[in-house]
Amino acid sequence: MNDWLRNIASQHQKKNLSRTYVAIRREAPDQVIGYYALAAFLIETEGMPGKRLPDRVSAVLLARLAIDNGRQGRGLGAHLLMHALDTALTTSEAVGVQCVVADAIDERAAGFYRKYGFQPFTQTPRRLFLPIETIRQA
Ligand SMILES: CC(C)(COP(=O)(O)OP(=O)(O)OC[C@H]1O[C@@H](n2cnc3c(N)ncnc32)[C@H](O)[C@@H]1OP(=O)(O)O)[C@@H](O)C(=O)NCCC(=O)NCCS
Repeated sequence: MNDWLRNIASQHQKKNLSRTYVAIRREAPDQVIGYYALAAFLIETEGMPGKRLPDRVSAVLLARLAIDNGRQGRGLGAHLLMHALDTALTTSEAVGVQCVVADAIDERAAGFYRKYGFQPFTQTPRRLFLPIETIRQA
Protein backbone atom coordinates (compact mmCIF):
# COMPACT_ATOMS: atom_id res chain seq x y z
CA MET A 1 0.00 0.00 0.00
CA ASN A 2 2.73 2.48 0.97
CA ASP A 3 4.89 1.69 -2.07
CA TRP A 4 2.05 2.34 -4.45
CA LEU A 5 1.14 5.59 -2.71
CA ARG A 6 4.72 6.87 -2.61
CA ASN A 7 5.88 5.80 -6.05
CA ILE A 8 2.91 5.56 -8.35
CA ALA A 9 0.05 7.68 -7.01
CA SER A 10 1.90 11.00 -7.17
CA GLN A 11 3.21 10.27 -10.69
CA HIS A 12 -0.32 9.39 -11.83
CA GLN A 13 -1.64 12.53 -10.20
CA LYS A 14 0.90 14.75 -12.00
CA LYS A 15 0.25 13.09 -15.36
CA ASN A 16 -3.55 13.19 -14.89
CA LEU A 17 -3.78 9.40 -15.17
CA SER A 18 -5.72 8.86 -11.97
CA ARG A 19 -6.82 10.63 -8.80
CA THR A 20 -6.09 9.14 -5.39
CA TYR A 21 -8.21 9.80 -2.31
CA VAL A 22 -6.80 9.01 1.11
CA ALA A 23 -8.35 8.44 4.53
CA ILE A 24 -6.51 9.95 7.48
CA ARG A 25 -7.28 10.53 11.14
CA ARG A 26 -7.51 14.07 12.48
CA GLU A 27 -5.04 13.25 15.26
CA ALA A 28 -2.43 11.78 12.87
CA PRO A 29 -2.87 13.51 9.51
CA ASP A 30 0.48 12.27 8.14
CA GLN A 31 -0.56 8.64 8.35
CA VAL A 32 -2.70 7.21 5.54
CA ILE A 33 -5.01 4.47 6.82
CA GLY A 34 -6.79 3.73 3.57
CA TYR A 35 -7.06 4.98 0.02
CA TYR A 36 -8.66 4.50 -3.34
CA ALA A 37 -7.87 5.71 -6.85
CA LEU A 38 -10.17 6.50 -9.77
CA ALA A 39 -9.47 6.78 -13.49
CA ALA A 40 -11.53 7.22 -16.64
CA PHE A 41 -11.87 3.95 -18.53
CA LEU A 42 -13.25 2.45 -21.73
CA ILE A 43 -14.61 -1.03 -21.15
CA GLU A 44 -15.51 -3.79 -23.61
CA THR A 45 -19.07 -4.90 -22.87
CA GLU A 46 -18.53 -8.50 -24.02
CA GLY A 47 -19.20 -10.71 -21.02
CA MET A 48 -21.21 -8.02 -19.30
CA PRO A 49 -24.60 -9.49 -18.41
CA GLY A 50 -27.65 -7.25 -18.72
CA LYS A 51 -29.03 -4.82 -21.24
CA ARG A 52 -27.79 -4.38 -24.78
CA LEU A 53 -24.97 -1.88 -25.00
CA PRO A 54 -22.41 -0.75 -27.60
CA ASP A 55 -19.23 -2.83 -27.86
CA ARG A 56 -17.42 -0.36 -25.60
CA VAL A 57 -18.77 2.01 -23.00
CA SER A 58 -17.27 4.69 -20.82
CA ALA A 59 -16.64 3.78 -17.20
CA VAL A 60 -14.94 4.90 -14.04
CA LEU A 61 -12.21 2.47 -13.00
CA LEU A 62 -11.82 1.91 -9.28
CA ALA A 63 -8.13 1.30 -9.77
CA ARG A 64 -7.18 0.72 -6.14
CA LEU A 65 -8.92 0.32 -2.82
CA ALA A 66 -6.90 -0.68 0.22
CA ILE A 67 -7.16 -0.40 3.97
CA ASP A 68 -4.21 -0.52 6.35
CA ASN A 69 -3.76 -4.12 7.61
CA GLY A 70 -4.44 -3.25 11.24
CA ARG A 71 -7.62 -1.36 10.40
CA GLN A 72 -9.45 -3.81 8.17
CA GLY A 73 -12.86 -5.10 9.24
CA ARG A 74 -14.00 -1.86 10.89
CA GLY A 75 -16.12 -0.37 8.13
CA LEU A 76 -13.50 1.85 6.51
CA GLY A 77 -13.44 -0.13 3.25
CA ALA A 78 -17.22 0.23 2.93
CA HIS A 79 -16.97 3.94 3.69
CA LEU A 80 -14.28 4.54 1.04
CA LEU A 81 -16.20 2.44 -1.49
CA MET A 82 -19.34 4.58 -0.92
CA HIS A 83 -17.24 7.71 -1.32
CA ALA A 84 -15.79 6.36 -4.58
CA LEU A 85 -19.25 5.48 -5.94
CA ASP A 86 -20.54 8.92 -4.99
CA THR A 87 -17.60 10.52 -6.82
CA ALA A 88 -18.33 8.37 -9.89
CA LEU A 89 -22.01 9.36 -9.75
CA THR A 90 -21.15 13.06 -9.58
CA THR A 91 -18.76 12.62 -12.53
CA SER A 92 -21.48 10.88 -14.52
CA GLU A 93 -23.70 13.96 -14.28
CA ALA A 94 -21.13 15.94 -16.30
CA VAL A 95 -19.73 13.19 -18.55
CA GLY A 96 -21.64 10.09 -19.62
CA VAL A 97 -20.47 7.11 -17.59
CA GLN A 98 -22.17 3.73 -17.91
CA CYS A 99 -20.66 1.87 -14.98
CA VAL A 100 -17.97 1.59 -12.34
CA VAL A 101 -15.43 -1.18 -12.95
CA ALA A 102 -13.27 -2.79 -10.26
CA ASP A 103 -10.45 -5.31 -10.70
CA ALA A 104 -10.29 -7.49 -7.60
CA ILE A 105 -6.83 -8.75 -6.68
CA ASP A 106 -8.17 -12.04 -5.33
CA GLU A 107 -11.36 -13.95 -4.60
CA ARG A 108 -11.62 -12.33 -1.16
CA ALA A 109 -11.64 -8.85 -2.68
CA ALA A 110 -14.14 -9.98 -5.35
CA GLY A 111 -16.42 -11.13 -2.49
CA PHE A 112 -16.23 -7.66 -0.97
CA TYR A 113 -17.31 -6.03 -4.24
CA ARG A 114 -20.09 -8.58 -4.84
CA LYS A 115 -21.50 -7.75 -1.40
CA TYR A 116 -22.12 -4.23 -2.68
CA GLY A 117 -23.85 -5.32 -5.88
CA PHE A 118 -20.91 -5.50 -8.29
CA GLN A 119 -21.41 -8.24 -10.88
CA PRO A 120 -18.58 -10.25 -12.41
CA PHE A 121 -17.90 -10.30 -16.15
CA THR A 122 -18.70 -13.82 -17.31
CA GLN A 123 -15.26 -14.63 -18.72
CA THR A 124 -13.17 -12.60 -16.24
CA PRO A 125 -14.88 -12.93 -12.84
CA ARG A 126 -12.20 -10.91 -11.04
CA ARG A 127 -13.29 -7.94 -13.11
CA LEU A 128 -16.59 -6.63 -11.81
CA PHE A 129 -18.95 -3.79 -12.71
CA LEU A 130 -21.75 -1.78 -11.14
CA PRO A 131 -24.05 0.27 -13.42
CA ILE A 132 -24.23 3.98 -12.63
CA GLU A 133 -28.02 3.61 -12.77
CA THR A 134 -27.88 1.18 -9.83
CA ILE A 135 -25.80 3.70 -7.85
CA ARG A 136 -28.20 6.52 -8.74
CA GLN A 137 -31.19 4.54 -7.50
CA ALA A 138 -29.52 3.46 -4.23
C1 LIG B 1 -11.21 -5.53 0.87
C2 LIG B 1 -11.04 -4.35 1.83
C3 LIG B 1 -10.92 -3.06 1.02
C4 LIG B 1 -12.31 -4.28 2.73
O1 LIG B 1 -12.15 -3.20 3.63
P1 LIG B 1 -12.50 -3.38 5.18
O2 LIG B 1 -12.38 -2.06 5.85
O3 LIG B 1 -11.71 -4.50 5.73
O4 LIG B 1 -14.05 -3.85 5.09
P2 LIG B 1 -15.25 -3.29 5.95
O5 LIG B 1 -14.93 -3.44 7.40
O6 LIG B 1 -15.64 -1.93 5.49
O7 LIG B 1 -16.38 -4.31 5.57
C5 LIG B 1 -17.62 -3.86 5.11
C6 LIG B 1 -18.50 -5.05 4.91
O8 LIG B 1 -17.94 -5.88 3.88
C7 LIG B 1 -17.81 -7.20 4.40
N1 LIG B 1 -16.61 -7.77 3.78
C8 LIG B 1 -15.32 -7.42 4.00
N2 LIG B 1 -14.50 -8.19 3.24
C9 LIG B 1 -15.33 -9.04 2.57
C10 LIG B 1 -15.13 -10.11 1.65
N3 LIG B 1 -13.91 -10.45 1.28
N4 LIG B 1 -16.20 -10.75 1.15
C11 LIG B 1 -17.47 -10.41 1.53
N5 LIG B 1 -17.73 -9.43 2.40
C12 LIG B 1 -16.67 -8.76 2.92
C13 LIG B 1 -17.69 -7.05 5.89
O9 LIG B 1 -18.07 -8.22 6.56
C14 LIG B 1 -18.66 -5.92 6.15
O10 LIG B 1 -19.98 -6.43 6.13
P3 LIG B 1 -21.07 -5.94 7.22
O11 LIG B 1 -21.20 -4.45 7.00
O12 LIG B 1 -22.29 -6.70 6.84
O13 LIG B 1 -20.48 -6.29 8.54
C15 LIG B 1 -9.82 -4.51 2.77
O14 LIG B 1 -9.94 -5.71 3.50
C16 LIG B 1 -8.47 -4.51 2.06
O15 LIG B 1 -7.84 -3.46 1.93
N6 LIG B 1 -7.97 -5.68 1.62
C17 LIG B 1 -6.70 -5.79 0.96
C18 LIG B 1 -6.67 -5.10 -0.40
C19 LIG B 1 -7.85 -5.52 -1.26
O16 LIG B 1 -8.23 -6.68 -1.31
N7 LIG B 1 -8.43 -4.53 -1.97
C20 LIG B 1 -9.59 -4.75 -2.80
C21 LIG B 1 -9.37 -4.14 -4.14
S1 LIG B 1 -8.39 -5.12 -5.20
